[in-house]
Amino acid sequence: MLITGASGGIGRALALLYAAPGVTLVLWGRNAQRLQETAAACRECRAHVLTREIDLADGKAAIIALRADDEATPCDTVILCAGLSDMKKTSEKTEQPEMVLELGLVNYATPAALTMAAAERMQARGGGAIALVGSVAAFHDLPFAAGYGGSKAGLARFASSARIALAPLGVRVSLIAPGFVDTAMSRRIVGPRPFLVTPENAARHIISAITENRAEVIFPWPFRVLRLIDKFTPRPLREAIMSRISADQKPR
Ligand SMILES: NC(=O)c1ccc[n+]([C@@H]2O[C@H](COP(=O)([O-])OP(=O)(O)OC[C@H]3O[C@@H](n4cnc5c(N)ncnc54)[C@H](OP(=O)(O)O)[C@@H]3O)[C@@H](O)[C@H]2O)c1
Repeated sequence: MLITGASGGIGRALALLYAAPGVTLVLWGRNAQRLQETAAACRECRAHVLTREIDLADGKAAIIALRADDEATPCDTVILCAGLSDMKKTSEKTEQPEMVLELGLVNYATPAALTMAAAERMQARGGGAIALVGSVAAFHDLPFAAGYGGSKAGLARFASSARIALAPLGVRVSLIAPGFVDTAMSRRIVGPRPFLVTPENAARHIISAITENRAEVIFPWPFRVLRLIDKFTPRPLREAIMSRISADQKPR
C-alpha cells in the first residue's frame, strides 16, 4: 500500500488506520520530520514501513519514484492524498500565478500521472485500487480559490474518466471529495468551517470507498446537498451568490 501526503493530517490518519502486523506501508511526504513521526507511529503498530521524501511539484521525479517503489514493494492499493490549498487574501487583487501553477501540479497533474503509472503496473499483476483525494471545492465556482477549485475539478474529471478506462484492466479508481477536515490545511482558514470532521473520520470514509469500490464519495453529507443545489441553480443567480462570498487565510 502506498500513501502520499502521509506526513499530513488525513494521510497520517490513513496510515495509522492501516498499520498492523503483516502490512507493508510505503509512505510519501515532503517534510522529513513529520513523515518520520508517522512512520514511527505505524511501526509501533508493528507495520513494515518504507518512506520517501518527495516534492510532488516535480511530476517526472514522482513517476520515476512510483515505478521504483512499486518494483521493490508491489502496491495493491495507492492512495494519492497529498495536496495543497491556497486562496486569494482579501488584501490581494488576484491569486498568485506561481501558486496557481503549484496547485495545478501538486493537486492535479502529478496525481493524474501517478494514477496511470500505478495502473500500468497494477494491470500487469491483475488489478488494484487507486483513491484520489479531491475536494468539494471541485463542485463550486469559488472566486477566491479558482486555482485550488480548478485543480480539484480537473482531478475529479480525471478520476471519473480513468475509472471507466481502467475498470476492464482490473484497476478500480475512486474519487474522495471531503468537506472541511480538521487538519493544518483547514486551520489556516479565517472564519467558520461548517460540518467539520476529524482526520480519522475522513480516513474511514476513504477506506470504505476503496473497500466498496465506490466511484465517488462526498462527505459529510450536507456537501452532497450543496452540490445538487449548485448544479440546479441558474448561472446568473449562482454567480450573484458566489460573488458575494469572501474568505481569508492565515499565512502558511
Ligand atoms: N483539510 C481539509 O479541510 C480538506 C478538505 C478537502 C480536501 N482536502 C484534501 O485532503 C488532502 C490531504 O490534506 P490534509 O487536510 O491532510 O492537509 P495537510 O495536513 O496540510 O497535509 C497535506 C499533505 O500533503 C503533502 N504535500 C503538500 N504539498 C506537497 C508537495 N509539493 N509534495 C509532496 N507532498 C506535499 C504534505 O506534505 P508535507 O507536510 O510533508 O509538506 C502533507 O503530507 C489534500 O489533497 C487536500 O486538498 C482537505
